Amino acid sequence: MERFVVVGGARLAGEVSVTGAKNIVLKLMAASLLAVGTTTLTEVPDILDVAIMSELLRRLGCRVDRDGSNVQIAVPERPGHEADYDLVRRMRASITVLGPLLARCGEAKVALPGGDAIGSRGLDMHIAGLQRLGATAAIEHGYLVATAPRLTGAQVWLDFPSVGATETLLLASVLAKGTTTIDNAAREPDIVDLCEFLLAMGAQIGGLGTSTLQVEGVDVLTPTSHRTLPDRIVAGTWAVAACLTQGDIFIRGGRAEHLENTLDKLVTAGAVVTRSPDGFRVQMQGRPRAVDVVTLPYPGFPTDLQPMMLTLNAIAEGTSMITENVFEARWMFVNELTRLGADVRTDGHHAVVRGIPQLSGAPVTAHDIRAGAALVLAGLVADGVTEVHDIHHVDRGYEGFADALVALGADVRRESGPDPLF
Ligand code: UD1
Repeated sequence: MERFVVVGGARLAGEVSVTGAKNIVLKLMAASLLAVGTTTLTEVPDILDVAIMSELLRRLGCRVDRDGSNVQIAVPERPGHEADYDLVRRMRASITVLGPLLARCGEAKVALPGGDAIGSRGLDMHIAGLQRLGATAAIEHGYLVATAPRLTGAQVWLDFPSVGATETLLLASVLAKGTTTIDNAAREPDIVDLCEFLLAMGAQIGGLGTSTLQVEGVDVLTPTSHRTLPDRIVAGTWAVAACLTQGDIFIRGGRAEHLENTLDKLVTAGAVVTRSPDGFRVQMQGRPRAVDVVTLPYPGFPTDLQPMMLTLNAIAEGTSMITENVFEARWMFVNELTRLGADVRTDGHHAVVRGIPQLSGAPVTAHDIRAGAALVLAGLVADGVTEVHDIHHVDRGYEGFADALVALGADVRRESGPDPLF
């Protein structure tokens, strides 16, 4: 059992570097299954989810080697086609192997994923989309089982611009026969980076960054090298941290253009944001002002930064309304934040947050990656000591989180051993 012990009161100042995005690199790793031979990914973060995906690929017959921040994936002529429950349940992104395995092997059997406790995360759009491409796809004994001798291009309309469903359909259709159109596709930078990776492998995709993607299927793809796009959620976490602690952080590698909505909110809260070619700087003087937030698919405010913004509002001057439109169970985090004294009331999709000058340290538990990071930030603006338990969630998405916080002046340490709560 490991936990972060956070002593509140520090103002964060200095520089922090952002590595490649978790949510992108996992998909690039899965997409490498589409081509026989060795694909190289660079700027790969050293986080638990990358280790889980590496193991998943190894079990499918790939060789995965890490050298610093580079990962090489050697894909065999005939990979396996089954992804087991013991790995998949630990990470929802495992579902991304479904499309490539179906395209390459004509069959795929992937355990229904687990991952974060942030709501019911259906796969109905993945399944319906694959069926439109001619596959049989159904849930059997806890597995999503799909078969298709060769997928055939089709027009697919998504009910919601789901990141995961867009990825599954892209990865299935690049090797399909004929043209696929994905309408109401997700427009996240994650999707654009995945498309660029696929283009470098020889895929034919149009409409990058728009809600209509056109894929012209090709017969074969070839391995490539690709630099992973910097993590906009990690960059956004540091941006909120600067604002929250009335600090001054230069976020090296952060791409402000992928965080326009978030940075605009921070400016409304009183921060000064300065952009430069190699990152951006967030400076804050005085207590933040309360700011309303509505989460939406990109380019709307990212749901993954909602817990951090809620934390900011918890100590802001004034009252705010946070509306969560993407993951309904993200309010589990609110129960933890109220243990630190936050004044938050939820009703359906909405949370009303009345800012108080300071939180008060207490033991709390992380239920997902982003909630875990937000609770650590909350500890920075709490009086006394905050212990954040179940930090394996944070390890899934943030490389060297505690070390980076310490370098910025925070009093945070990682403790392991028997959990004093039990
Ligand atoms: C990805 C990210 C996650 C981020 C989310 C939205 C990864 C590993 N995770 O998750 O961090 O918060 O995008 O930006 O990249 N849904 C269905 N049926 C489906 C598919 C989705 O009902 O077939 C629902 C989900 O339950 C959820 C919503 O659609 O309520 C959005 O899901 P989606 O955009 O697919 O998110 P993920 O790809 O799971």
